[in-house]
Amino acid sequence: MRRAIFPGSFDPVTNGHLDIIQRGCKLFDEIIVAILVNPEKTAFFSLEERSEILEEVLRTIDSGGCRVTVESFEGLLVQYAAERDAHAIVRGIRAISDYEYELQMALMNRRLQPRLETVFMMPAEEYSYVSSRLVKEVFQLGASIEGLVPPLVEERMSGKTRK
Ligand code: PNS
Repeated sequence: MRRAIFPGSFDPVTNGHLDIIQRGCKLFDEIIVAILVNPEKTAFFSLEERSEILEEVLRTIDSGGCRVTVESFEGLLVQYAAERDAHAIVRGIRAISDYEYELQMALMNRRLQPRLETVFMMPAEEYSYVSSRLVKEVFQLGASIEGLVPPLVEERMSGKTRK
């Protein structure tokens, strides 16, 4: 039983995240999508909203028999991973620009918890420029985000700005 953690802010979840989860499902029996609780960062969606959106969206993807669950965590990722008996951390790498930050985190995490491996996965090319930050930026400036995020995220984002 191989269990991996896919950590992130998921504010909001993008099609790139879903692509990585599906790829991760080919390698692991279980993936815990773990939302970081970060009180210092003002999020577009609350933790509860992000968790609810993720759960709903994950019900619509084909995970090929892999168990995909949603949780949240506070504090050190490696500590949370140990509590969950996880074998690996999955992270997506879109471009070389992601690599330096990801390498730094992976090596720090390895120092803190040598038995925990970080697995980097590349999303489909069509998502190689998609980030939660850019999705929020173009949406807030009035552009369409169709195809970049699941339809539910589009709906929820539009609902928020209409309020
Ligand atoms: O989606 P993000 O914001 O790029 O995810 C970043 C995340 C959650 C993976 C990272 O900030 C993290 O692991 N935070 C938990 C605190 C921690 O363990 N810090 C040390 C990392 S070396």
